[in-house]
Amino acid sequence: MIKIAPSILSADFSILGDEINSVKSAEYLHFDVMDGVFVPNLSIGLPVLESVRGVTGMTLDVHLMITAPMRYIPRFIDAGADIITFHAEAEKPENISGAIGEIHRLGKRAGLAIKPGTPAEALAPYMDTIDVALVMSVEPGFGGQKFIADVLPKISGLRHVIDNCGFTCEIEVDGGINPDTAKLCIRAGADVLVAGNDIFASPDRAARIAALRAGE
Ligand code: DX5
Ligand code: ZN
Repeated sequence: MIKIAPSILSADFSILGDEINSVKSAEYLHFDVMDGVFVPNLSIGLPVLESVRGVTGMTLDVHLMITAPMRYIPRFIDAGADIITFHAEAEKPENISGAIGEIHRLGKRAGLAIKPGTPAEALAPYMDTIDVALVMSVEPGFGGQKFIADVLPKISGLRHVIDNCGFTCEIEVDGGINPDTAKLCIRAGADVLVAGNDIFASPDRAARIAALRAGE
């Protein structure tokens, strides 16, 4: 079954607890961390994650868009992350396996993300150890952008590799997801769809989550 991960980047932070409650029918809650260096924007971090952890039992899917993410892994886990996904472009190649290992040692799921212009080959050496392969379908940094359809072959290529090699990781797609693009991603083989604007702009979030999941 397709999993949906509402991105709270598009939520109203003045009523964050209510906003989270409104999307509790989703499988994951997506938490975007930006440092103003890896991406040209700043968002939320450790204190907000701790507060969110305190009000929900949902699986907290933390997407680190920060340079040298390895530095912060234990602190994000202490603050309540269940899944930590970091960017292959943001860490030294020689540190990537160690970072994945550290997340696992601390008992959590590890994800590796790639920007739209990064080939799937960047994930290849880690496919047998990661839990999530995150394919960005917009340039990371902002919600509400248009889906980049060029990433669809990358999703289907990853699906092929995962199925052929018996890997267990999920393919998560992040950026510009709406009912139309959700359908394309599901057809290409995605397992998890992140959606910010589309869900939080909807008056009936539960219905929107169900529609995205069904690829309607
Ligand atoms: C973008 C973030 C996304 C973003 C998605 O850098 O990683 O998670 O919130 O937002 P939408 O669904 O509005 O494109
Ligand atoms: Zn994200």
